[in-house]
Amino acid sequence: MSGSGKSLLGVWLYKRGQNWAVKEGSPLHKPHDVRHRVPEESLDDRARRNLIPMEENNKGNDNKNSVIFSLKNQVGGLARALQVFQDLGINVVHIESRKSLRRGSEYDILVDVECDSKRMEQLMKMLSREVAAINLAHYEQIGTIPHAPSLSAAASFDFSEVDMPWFPRKISDLDRAQKVLMYGSELDADHPGFKDPVYRKRREKFAEIANSYRYGQPIPRVQYTPEEISTWGTVFRELHQLYQKFACKEYLENWPRLVKYCGYREDNIPQLQDINVFLKRTTGFQLRPVAGYLTPRDFLSGLAFRVFHCTQYIRHSSDPFYTPEPDCCHELLGHMPLLANPSFAQFSQELGLASLGASDEDIDKLATLYFFTVEFGLCKQDGMFRVYGAGLLSSVAELKHAVSAPEKTMRFEPDVTCKQECIITAFQNAYYYTDSIDEAKEKMR
Ligand SMILES: [Fe+2]
Repeated sequence: MSGSGKSLLGVWLYKRGQNWAVKEGSPLHKPHDVRHRVPEESLDDRARRNLIPMEENNKGNDNKNSVIFSLKNQVGGLARALQVFQDLGINVVHIESRKSLRRGSEYDILVDVECDSKRMEQLMKMLSREVAAINLAHYEQIGTIPHAPSLSAAASFDFSEVDMPWFPRKISDLDRAQKVLMYGSELDADHPGFKDPVYRKRREKFAEIANSYRYGQPIPRVQYTPEEISTWGTVFRELHQLYQKFACKEYLENWPRLVKYCGYREDNIPQLQDINVFLKRTTGFQLRPVAGYLTPRDFLSGLAFRVFHCTQYIRHSSDPFYTPEPDCCHELLGHMPLLANPSFAQFSQELGLASLGASDEDIDKLATLYFFTVEFGLCKQDGMFRVYGAGLLSSVAELKHAVSAPEKTMRFEPDVTCKQECIITAFQNAYYYTDSIDEAKEKMR
């Protein structure tokens, strides 16, 4: 949703000088309501214990202030909010995101700044146009925020001094997050197409499209060969027979729309650009061509901006039912129908947001959780297991296997599931289910 219909309550709480202030007109601004005074006192109390940057070190006109806000549910919200700080020349000393407790909002953002009162007022005014409201209950956790190292004024928005991996701050930064781990234009010796010079040449072409792609460009259309269309048709035909019985209802609901708007047919490989337009209109997701396996960090960071990195090439024709890597059969048949579901799109974005600036260890956990939900997840519908994982919905053999292996199917518990081994070239040792896709999303929060 654009700003047209959504409340612009914006920032509710900020600290000016010695005191925390609540923006007038916000739901927090209820001076007679005890519940709403507690967080203000609580914040100051904690700040006095140096858990929050305070003004003890305040020299000159710059105070150390903190602003907490939540993002609007739209692409690029964080980047737009951070741009306000930059536009005002405000030095950011610490930024932290945390899962929001407020329904309908994904993440709360805390930003510590060095800023005089005049610019603080400007900041509040400008920021209120870019962000959404915040959950009051969340303030009570603020004591856990460690004291942040201070950066020089010149280093504003330069996080090089902070022990935080680089992450894209705006959607166009994804142009710099394209590290392909394997395959791409180079195939390994065990790849079915390794000994086929025509296939390898073709893969170079797809890699060239992906590597030269930049944010905002239309995705180049591909003239698929009869051989490629035949491979697609074989996979399409077999899988389509299984979907009515095993795919979740969210998947099946969107299938007719993909047929109607994106050319999903047995004799036609849909174009990424057509799906891109369709998804942008339905859930705000966009596609971006990719040459092969991205690093988990780069792949997940795309999801944070509702960008799905999507392969455009197809598996080798020698074995239509096997591929050691994601290809367009996997992406288009497995992922796209669910990305057109608003709740699932939200789930995907939240996984991505959690990855921004995360440690390598946390990226591993997130990638594993992504794997056993978005790729291999099951849910219960009408008393039976249905599949929403794209890895299963794009594999005839493993789809049949997963729904007939109750001994391997267990409840999704993020703390346990994140330790499960991900298997790429054979069936999984375990599959995880929830009562609904929404339950998986809630459990991840
Ligand atoms: Fe996938």
